[in-house]
Amino acid sequence: MTDQADNLRQAIANLGRARLSETALAVPVGAAVPVSAPAPAAEVVSALPIKARRGGPARVFTVTSGKGGVGKTNVSINLAIALSDLKYKVAILDADFGLANVEVLFGLIPKYKLLDAIHNEKTISEIVCDGPRGVKFISGGSGVEELVRLDDEQIAALISGLSGLDEEFDVIIIDTGAGLSETVVGMSLAADEVLLVTTPEPTSVTDAYALIKTLVARDRDKTVRLIVNRAESALEAADIMSKLSQVSEKFLDLKLHKLGYILNDPLVVRSVKQQQPFLIGFPQSKISRSVREIALRLMERTAFAPEKGRGLAGFFGGISKFLLYK
Ligand SMILES: Nc1ncnc2c1ncn2[C@@H]1O[C@H](COP(=O)(O)OP(=O)(O)OP(=O)(O)O)[C@@H](O)[C@H]1O
Ligand SMILES: [Mg+2]
Repeated sequence: MTDQADNLRQAIANLGRARLSETALAVPVGAAVPVSAPAPAAEVVSALPIKARRGGPARVFTVTSGKGGVGKTNVSINLAIALSDLKYKVAILDADFGLANVEVLFGLIPKYKLLDAIHNEKTISEIVCDGPRGVKFISGGSGVEELVRLDDEQIAALISGLSGLDEEFDVIIIDTGAGLSETVVGMSLAADEVLLVTTPEPTSVTDAYALIKTLVARDRDKTVRLIVNRAESALEAADIMSKLSQVSEKFLDLKLHKLGYILNDPLVVRSVKQQQPFLIGFPQSKISRSVREIALRLMERTAFAPEKGRGLAGFFGGISKFLLYK
């Protein structure tokens, strides 16, 4: 397994080597890089595809970050609700194995978890739990080591069961842990697209960049969409997005998609304590409006080439291969 600390050291060393400015990432707001805000989301819901693709695989997003605790799970659950409100069929897979944050933030206790489909002969539909507002979720449950321990036959059974979900859902959001571990990187590589969450803190931004760098080194064509969470202002968020996207384009030749931002807001903490997503508890708040904008932008017609999607079956094919044969 690649050593996370080595990866980080390498990333930091590379940051130091860059001339103009991978280091611009740590420059204070407004100081070095011209600011450009993401294009406003189309407010017209009718411009959205009605369904991602009926009969085709679901569109699979991995929500991830370089640094931990930046808001991935809150983004995952609230984005899922916003997409469900737009009439997409959405499921969340809690892949922060062992920590099970999605069910805690939903205030729910799932009856079954992912590996009950293998060890306890539960059907895939039995392990899909009902979340709020039509969102479904699958609890990752036990550690990722258990996935690694499955034999080929069990993996094939899991993949074939999960491919049924591709028919049922338009969007599958995979909430991962943070960082440059093989598991997180593997899941990001296996998904159709990566939603990368960062806060404006320099440590979070440089860790996000280190993760982008690791992903691009393994897959040049990876689609990475950026969400700035806990921004103090639209200006601060736009500045972070501009820095990261300019540095990624210049040094990695990667076009980073600016998906949107969410303000730093005590309502998030209140929602977490109440175990209720803020889109439900505070639907008119700025943070809820931002997440709805992100959902709209994500589903814009131009945002995705359906033929590229491999769906959940493809995701599990990718991740299991990756975990087994690393
Ligand atoms: N926009 C926000 N405004 C204020 N606080 C926030 C915001 N987003 C997240 N937080 C705070 O950060 C905490 C962590 O959020 P969350 O659990 O979504 O992060 P995470 O990236 O999933 O963490 P982990 O890496 O541990 O899985 C929340 O409980 C909340 O206190
Ligand atoms: Mg989390």
